[in-house]
Amino acid sequence: MSDPGKRPVAADNNAASSEADAIARISDMMQKKLREDTAAGERMPRDAHPKAHGLVQAEFTVAENLPDELRVGVFAQPVSFPAWIRYSNGAPRSATQKPDASNDVRGVGIKLMGVAGEKVLADEKEAMTQDFLLCNHPVFFIRNVPDYEVFLKATSGGNPLPFFFSLWPFKIRFHEAKVLVQALFKKVSSPLAIRYWSQTPYALGDRAVKYSLQPSSTYNEPVLSKADQADADYLRHTMAKELGATDVYLDFMVQLQDADRAQMPVDDPTILWSEEQSPFIKVATIRIPCQKFDTAARNQLAEDLSFTPWHSLPEHQPLGGINRTRRVVYETISRLRHTVNGVMRKEPSGF
Ligand code: HEM
Repeated sequence: MSDPGKRPVAADNNAASSEADAIARISDMMQKKLREDTAAGERMPRDAHPKAHGLVQAEFTVAENLPDELRVGVFAQPVSFPAWIRYSNGAPRSATQKPDASNDVRGVGIKLMGVAGEKVLADEKEAMTQDFLLCNHPVFFIRNVPDYEVFLKATSGGNPLPFFFSLWPFKIRFHEAKVLVQALFKKVSSPLAIRYWSQTPYALGDRAVKYSLQPSSTYNEPVLSKADQADADYLRHTMAKELGATDVYLDFMVQLQDADRAQMPVDDPTILWSEEQSPFIKVATIRIPCQKFDTAARNQLAEDLSFTPWHSLPEHQPLGGINRTRRVVYETISRLRHTVNGVMRKEPSGF
């Protein structure tokens, strides 16, 4: 399927093959680093978002009376899907042990189950899942595949600074540095209390959209003391306290790309799509029922599940170069860590 929202261009095989080569190099570098960082006999974690705050059971209910243009894929009918939701910190494995008060990006992986229809990944066409991955900042800090490779080379040398500022070749990436700083420096009381965005775009039939998730108007944000925040795992413990006492509701929303595609590009996720120009529209309610999730079995499942934006119906296919990179990388890293850990990769079918 082609990227909707993208200007039609003549087929460019050279560009496609040079992108595929760059993605293969990115994937190889990430695998190599993860292997090097994992001691013999040690369990291999995710490369990104290794620290989970909890995996919770949820129910994803599509809104009634949606306009026709939004009635696509999982949003076609006002039905409910059971869902797993994994909350995480973004920092890579070297920082798995960092206290939650450290500056970091927070992420959420939502996995709907019971989703009928053939999926886009060749090896998982029969899977009954649809994933949505979001982070707590509206934009990503890397524009495209070539830049991601430059960034990865810089970070694998232990210092990401040359990506943002280099004398030879001379390059300043001020916009990207600003996005990263804004994303990292946010106070978070609970993983349930914050807003998340998909950052990268997705198809919605013939349109392009971005996703966002926010607490519903009934949510009461917890007030944390200094002592609460001194706890290295306060995000897990705060969420456990909240879900031990009450159900929590969240709004899942989409933002449509409009005709002004230069202002709402598909190929540069560092550019904010203006909410004034195209407001987010609520398409589903997520209910996270009161539950005890901090158990050994649930924490093990959080490790063993694989989330990827490419667990998807074609109607919601991920768009743009950064998402095409993720298609290869998430699958490769998930396969690697499951093989090393001796765990079978399997999409869940229920709770
Ligand atoms: C080229 C860019 C990116 C690369 C290479 C990348 C890579 C990865 C990898 C390797 C994982 C672990 C997968 C696994 O082992 O199961 C992961 C997890 C994750 N990524 Fe990305 N990522 C990228 C961009 C993004 C963006 C733009 C978002 C924005 C929302 C995002 C959100 C997440 C989240 C929420 C998880 C955790 C999913 C879970 O709970 O398992 N990533 N990423």
